[in-house]
Amino acid sequence: MTRRRSNKRSWAEPFKIKVVEPIKMTTRKERLRAIETACYNTFLLKSSDVYIDLLTDSGTSAMSDYQWAGLMQGDEAYAGSANFYRLESTIQQYYGYPYIVPTHQGRGAEHILSQILIKPGDIVPGNMYFTTTRLHQELAGGVFEDIIIDEAHQPDSLHPFKGNIDLDKLSALIKKHGAKRIPYISVEACVNMAGGQPFSLANLKEVKELCDRHGILVILDATRAMENAWFIKEREPGYSDRSCAQILKEICDLTDGCTMSGKKDLLVNIGGFLAFRDQDHYRKASELVVVYEGLHTYGGLAGRDMEAMARGIEEAVLDDHLQARIGQVSYLGEKIEQVGIPIVQPLGGHAVYLDARKFLPHLTQDEFPAQALAAALYIDSGVRAMERGIVSAGRDPVTGEHRYPELELVRLTIPRRVYTQAHMDVTAESVESCFENRQGIKGLRMTYEPEKLRFFQAHFEPKAPFILEDMAEMSAKRNKPVTVSGAQPRSNTNK
Ligand code: F0G
Repeated sequence: MTRRRSNKRSWAEPFKIKVVEPIKMTTRKERLRAIETACYNTFLLKSSDVYIDLLTDSGTSAMSDYQWAGLMQGDEAYAGSANFYRLESTIQQYYGYPYIVPTHQGRGAEHILSQILIKPGDIVPGNMYFTTTRLHQELAGGVFEDIIIDEAHQPDSLHPFKGNIDLDKLSALIKKHGAKRIPYISVEACVNMAGGQPFSLANLKEVKELCDRHGILVILDATRAMENAWFIKEREPGYSDRSCAQILKEICDLTDGCTMSGKKDLLVNIGGFLAFRDQDHYRKASELVVVYEGLHTYGGLAGRDMEAMARGIEEAVLDDHLQARIGQVSYLGEKIEQVGIPIVQPLGGHAVYLDARKFLPHLTQDEFPAQALAAALYIDSGVRAMERGIVSAGRDPVTGEHRYPELELVRLTIPRRVYTQAHMDVTAESVESCFENRQGIKGLRMTYEPEKLRFFQAHFEPKAPFILEDMAEMSAKRNKPVTVSGAQPRSNTNK
């Protein structure tokens, strides 16, 4: 009789692979040249020079056969496409908002929302900033105020809901400015800049009650609300028996509308929407969408894109999908954490965030440690990550000074349904190699700075050349290499 050694049961992805896309392996020399050409900004690398692309989970997911089949059913009418009505009814069913305006992506929705709700001088509180969200609020004349709980700014805090809003901070803002100057509060699900951290339903209920008492709208950034629903199911007492679909609906029921980037949760390469409960908001948004995006029944999307997004909603909200998606993020995070590398705790929904301050304590924040670490990781293995620290935070529009965020992070963002566990292993090993070589990672200086959203296109140069030794070479130097007679050297071209 055979006995299982442990009672642990593994899970696996609820899909199998039907089509593959080959990726290029590069040498370290080629990568060094590529990152120099890209001015040490991973956004400026060509994707053909990237081995494992963890830049973003935005628009990078793999669609299912069901979604691809839907593309063939695109109704490319200028007005009143069948796919719009299909999308509208699917959003109504799963999110529960009655009025829907499609947009080409999330920032299109943010632009329109900010223009219709914010007046110059208004205050817009939110649970930490997101880059494009805050910029659109500022362009409409608003001032963003951070009201997330303090724990969100502490990478080591194990608070299970670091996306929560601090009600005292919100009350103080209402007292200081008056409710009339606060058109809405912006509540982001699985807060991106905090490490993909969820809010709890208990907190959202309290926020909604407080806002209702003062006549302030609650607008959800629903970009990763399904992933947030998964964390509520896992961590919030009383929700383990609910489905993520039920929890999603409960989240939305506590809000007055949402902006959405379908490129994340919804498993599509392009698409977004705005949704409202109030008909007047809907009317204003429909009037503006025709100026900036397209008619209110396509909002900058092809009919086929709307069909893929409608079908994506049905697949993305399933518990099995969310378990595998977030399980993969945890797998990578736990591997990195096990070897003592500092990351943001607890692990979030869409990415593992390296704590670049602790990783590179020899660099000051003015030397852009997270930007430098992302470049080093690329040089080491061809894994592309993204800076989420001082560069992303930009400059204060009033003083013109750098904003110095407490979190100086490198985000290893996992596209949905794209990479395997082996890709995660390679990534973890590369992070470890950079950690072993951390003294060789040097500070950067910014040589070109765009005025807005500078992280996308800024140029940098290292203050001194990076010295990155390959871990395999290092251990070969330490221990005499063991050679197996007749064996050929392993041809790992990614060295
Ligand atoms: N809101 C959140 C929370 C986001 O993460 C993003 C995009 C947007 C809004 C804007 O949506 O890109 O469709 O215009 N985040 C991407 C990222 C860019 O890499 O985190 P978009």
